[in-house]
Amino acid sequence: MSKKHVKFLTYGCQMNFSDAERMEGELAKLGYQSVEEMDQADLIIINTCCVRETAEDKVYGKIGEIKALKRRNPDLILGITGCMAQKEGEKLIKRAPHIDFVLGTNKIHEVVSTIQKLEAANVKHVVDTELRESEMPEDVAIQRNTALSAWIPIMYGCNNFCTYCIVPYVRGRERSRLPEDIVREVQEAVAQGYKEVTLLGQNVNSYGKDHKKATFAQLLEMVDKVEGIQRVRYMTSHPKDLSNEVIEVIKNSKHICRHFHLPVQYGSNRILKAMNRVYTVEQYRDLVARIRAAVPESSLTTDLIVGFPGETEEDFQQLMAFIEEIRYDQAYTFIYSKRSGTPAAEMDNQVEDAVKHQRLNRLMELQNSISLEINQQLVGRTLEVMVEGPSHTDERVWNGRTDTNKLVLWQYTGKERPGDLVKVNIQQAQTWILKGALEA
Ligand code: SAH
Ligand code: SF4
Ligand code: F3S
Repeated sequence: MSKKHVKFLTYGCQMNFSDAERMEGELAKLGYQSVEEMDQADLIIINTCCVRETAEDKVYGKIGEIKALKRRNPDLILGITGCMAQKEGEKLIKRAPHIDFVLGTNKIHEVVSTIQKLEAANVKHVVDTELRESEMPEDVAIQRNTALSAWIPIMYGCNNFCTYCIVPYVRGRERSRLPEDIVREVQEAVAQGYKEVTLLGQNVNSYGKDHKKATFAQLLEMVDKVEGIQRVRYMTSHPKDLSNEVIEVIKNSKHICRHFHLPVQYGSNRILKAMNRVYTVEQYRDLVARIRAAVPESSLTTDLIVGFPGETEEDFQQLMAFIEEIRYDQAYTFIYSKRSGTPAAEMDNQVEDAVKHQRLNRLMELQNSISLEINQQLVGRTLEVMVEGPSHTDERVWNGRTDTNKLVLWQYTGKERPGDLVKVNIQQAQTWILKGALEA
């Protein structure tokens, strides 16, 4: 088998990165190895996201760039996979005929047969975006690329239909993997040397509601008990069905991280209702109180959207007050992006761009000051950190994360290895990072 090279360009959420690891694993069967540079590749796969318009713009830019590469190397294969592939399908090839194949979100395991089809001389393009939800193949090879945490998908799709969101349309209905398949994958990751896993799903609290073989709480218990596992994370929780059982399991577990990522999206009941988030500000507040009472010293993070259709200054003031009240460790803030096909795109009271940007800035300023204050309270404390490795900017400065998911940097001493649990004394706090010194 001759050696060939593949370059992946992956955008979007962790699920997309997990899908890329599976495609890379499958492609190894055809002799493909991954490379850093696009101009060394025989195959380029753009694994796309369409959650916001900016994500799509980036992809169109890349597709344009690759046109010149294909002119120089006519044998180069270009494939588009992921959520934008699912959404646009055939239209991508109409717009950019130098694309060789388009595979939808449910077709990642077909990447090998697709390449084989293209190699048969008479096939020009392959487009397959059928979303058959019964298809959930388990025997997929995986080439893991993460340094610290192994991605483990536990469920696919989303049934929530928040009115702004495209994900349910491009990922299909919720379906959960069997608990035994998940536990086996966790065991395999541990055997490969991973000490941490991140369980993935658009809405992990709904895990198992389809096959009823285990609830999310029961699955967490099973994964917590896997021999050799040190840390368990999961993404993402929808506040509407985070059960008391889940909180109880986390409280009593040895390895599940004390970090709750609980996207609230907004802080006024009027907008939450228009978003179809199904909970109220009061219910969310009560949930946070239950979490903080049960799991003290846990961290709390969120996602927020400003500029949803119909958002008034009064709504925005309520959001700002809510942010001050809850005091998140961190918030990922987004400007509402109109996604055609979703109910919110049809709403006639869209907010002006300038107002959206101004609100985003006010919100980020407030949240940054809160994040900094919370981090400053950690100065002087000694925290347990799982070593990741050298930081991007300086070989001698290493980084890692606390179980509360805080990024910590320290001067490398020569003794610590990736995956070790070490103690770091925190000396300096910033909005997004903590700096400290390794304790002997
Ligand atoms: N399933 C996850 C998140 C999926 S998308 C959840 O429900 O929490 C990640 C984040 O992108 C969302 O939490 C939301 O804040 C943001 N998002 C989704 N659609 C968006 C849109 N149309 N415009 C702006 N932000 C959006
Ligand atoms: Fe989108 Fe809502 Fe589903 Fe999250 S829960 S993926 S925001 S529809
Ligand atoms: Fe983007 Fe698809 Fe994830 S739209 S956020 S890559 S599920």
